[in-house]
Amino acid sequence: MNPPITATLPRHDIADAALASDGRKRIEWAERNMPVLAQIRERFEKSQPFAGVRIAACMHVTAETANLMRVLKAGGADIALCASNPLSTQDDTAAALVHEYGISVFARHAVDRDGYYSHINAALDIAPHQVFDDGCDLVNTIHTTRKELIVNITGGCEETTTGVIRLNQMAKDGALLFPMIAVNDTDTKHMFDNRYGTGQSTLDAVFRSTNYLIAGRIVVVAGFGYCGKGVAERAKGMGADVIITEIDPTKALDAMMQGFRVLPMIDAAKIGDVFITVTGNRDVLREEHFKVMKDGVIMANSGHFDIEIDVAWLEQNSKSKNVKMRHETDEYVLADGRRLLLLAEGRLVNLGAAEGHPASVMDMSFSDQALTAEYLVKEAANLKPGVHDVPSYIDKEVASLKLISMGGRIDTLTPAQDMYLNSWEHGS
Ligand SMILES: NC(=O)c1ccc[n+]([C@@H]2O[C@H](COP(=O)([O-])OP(=O)(O)OC[C@H]3O[C@@H](n4cnc5c(N)ncnc54)[C@H](O)[C@@H]3O)[C@@H](O)[C@H]2O)c1
Repeated sequence: MNPPITATLPRHDIADAALASDGRKRIEWAERNMPVLAQIRERFEKSQPFAGVRIAACMHVTAETANLMRVLKAGGADIALCASNPLSTQDDTAAALVHEYGISVFARHAVDRDGYYSHINAALDIAPHQVFDDGCDLVNTIHTTRKELIVNITGGCEETTTGVIRLNQMAKDGALLFPMIAVNDTDTKHMFDNRYGTGQSTLDAVFRSTNYLIAGRIVVVAGFGYCGKGVAERAKGMGADVIITEIDPTKALDAMMQGFRVLPMIDAAKIGDVFITVTGNRDVLREEHFKVMKDGVIMANSGHFDIEIDVAWLEQNSKSKNVKMRHETDEYVLADGRRLLLLAEGRLVNLGAAEGHPASVMDMSFSDQALTAEYLVKEAANLKPGVHDVPSYIDKEVASLKLISMGGRIDTLTPAQDMYLNSWEHGS
């Protein structure tokens, strides 16, 4: 356990230092369910892979992220952390990182857009060697307004699907000027974090906000990717009648064969009780859908940006708005009197209205991040600017450690099996 920092504090801008001891409890609670990260931390404490390495991280400022920051610090890194979404910042966690663990943090819950970017810039003032991003805003800021930093940056990693999509677009245009590793694309990230983490925590946010019973209700999930599958499966498991909307015929077919109804949104909009967007796209719920929805429906977004639900239309066209009727629940009253409920202002609902993914699943994503950062220290010089995969040995190591930590065991190949799988000469 790190001793409390009493002497000089690291650079910071946080909401309330008095929350530090609550934050410490929250971080230590999360740590209990992050056994793989704990093993990595022990190794890093001895090997000090980040001695002399400065890292700027733009991530959700949650207890799980705090544990990743502690691992990097234990490995010798000098870190500056800012938020990747103002609504997900836990002010107690931010306070604890600064006052209990001596880590530089720039994050306040619900800060406005200017504050958000001033925090990103403050984190970048560390003049990083490595960058950790979650949604690509940090990398975007570097390439647009902080280009002078690029000379020092060896590389970085990106945590989420939307960030990887943006990085790929940058790389396609020849605009990405250092190597970025797509941590999101590891099996141990997207198969678990996006699916089980988003699935559970998105519904958790709906329940915390509304205390709504979804059994017997129609839940419409827009997008049947990794996250959408997780949300749909869990809603179905709790007794909801789940409808999927998709734009990809293969994903739609998969949803149908898993027993879900598949409809265009314009049809689903007329019958749904709860709508959850998780596509990474924009305007998935918009005017034409709002106009046919039933009175009292609940809308939430779990995709990365707050553009999946056209909140601007609701703001401009509603007769009135009842703000914060309940925790993170705003009610828009349309001209004809119908009431549409919006959770967490249309931002990432699982982080805005709940606590984000459970620590146990972030244990895997953040172990991927920690091991990828170590890999970058050794290999960044050999990587060209662009988007790169995490080496598969890291993915397999994290899966093996997690499996063991959960008491799972697997078989090993016999020599004959090994030869059979690796030879083309054997017939049937
Ligand atoms: N809430 C969280 O904590 C969390 C966690 C991980 C990822 N994400 C974010 O969630 C989003 C989805 O991530 P993913 O990993 O599931 O991506 P994915 O690419 O696996 O799935 C997205 C799906 O949405 C579909 N889609 C796109 N536009 C659509 C539209 N207009 N209508 C219906 N379907 C549409 C695509 O065909 C695809 O199947 C991204 O923005 C990602 O960054 C959020």
